[in-house]
Amino acid sequence: MSQLHVINHPMIQHKLTIMRKKETGSKDFRELLKEIGLLMGYEVTRDLPLRDIEIETPICKMTGKEISGRKMAIVPILRAGLGLVEGLQSLIPVAKVGHIGMYRNEETHQPVEYFCKLPEDIHDRLVIVTDPMLATGGSACDAISSLKKKGCANIRLMCLVGVPEGVERVQREHPDVDIYLAALDERLNENAYIVPGLGDAGDRIFGTK
Ligand code: PRP
Ligand code: URA
Repeated sequence: MSQLHVINHPMIQHKLTIMRKKETGSKDFRELLKEIGLLMGYEVTRDLPLRDIEIETPICKMTGKEISGRKMAIVPILRAGLGLVEGLQSLIPVAKVGHIGMYRNEETHQPVEYFCKLPEDIHDRLVIVTDPMLATGGSACDAISSLKKKGCANIRLMCLVGVPEGVERVQREHPDVDIYLAALDERLNENAYIVPGLGDAGDRIFGTK
């Protein structure tokens, strides 16, 4: 069964509250999202296996630790998922980046895929899918299905704000995918926006409204 991890670290909660405020502008919103991306990355990668490595410090030889061979990829769901990539990349500089473009039809709220470009060896990688908003869960579920069709078997979903409905849908359709959130909000409104949420993440990142 997919695990839900709500990361309630004080630094993340503080930064998220600033992002939620309607008066926070695009520049600050983007910077905070990048910072939270890095901080959440610690939790998303917490259980990566380590192996011993013999090294020499300026003082003596020692046995150190390194991440044991697991190749990683970051796959943002465009557009808003892009906002979490830079922070994750500063934590995992060797990760390759794929892109899946999805938008929600404004009336039906159904996701429509319009772009998909992934690293050739994506099926060999641990994939972190990023998107700030997990609302109905449709976009995340479709993106994860696209990755599974390419052979991906190790997928984690990293979002900022989710609601129970979206979490339950991902857990039902993709029980092998763990979900990482900074906050589990109350519900969706009649337009399938998260309440209290932070508004339209893509518009706030890119200043399109
Ligand atoms: C937003 C958000 C998610 C999706 C979440 O994207 O970034 O991808 O909605 O909603 P869901 O869980 O109900 O599918 P949007 O469609 O607004 O596109 P954008 O990122 O280009 O703004
Ligand atoms: N997409 C967003 O950007 N915000 C929401 O609250 C729901 C979907």
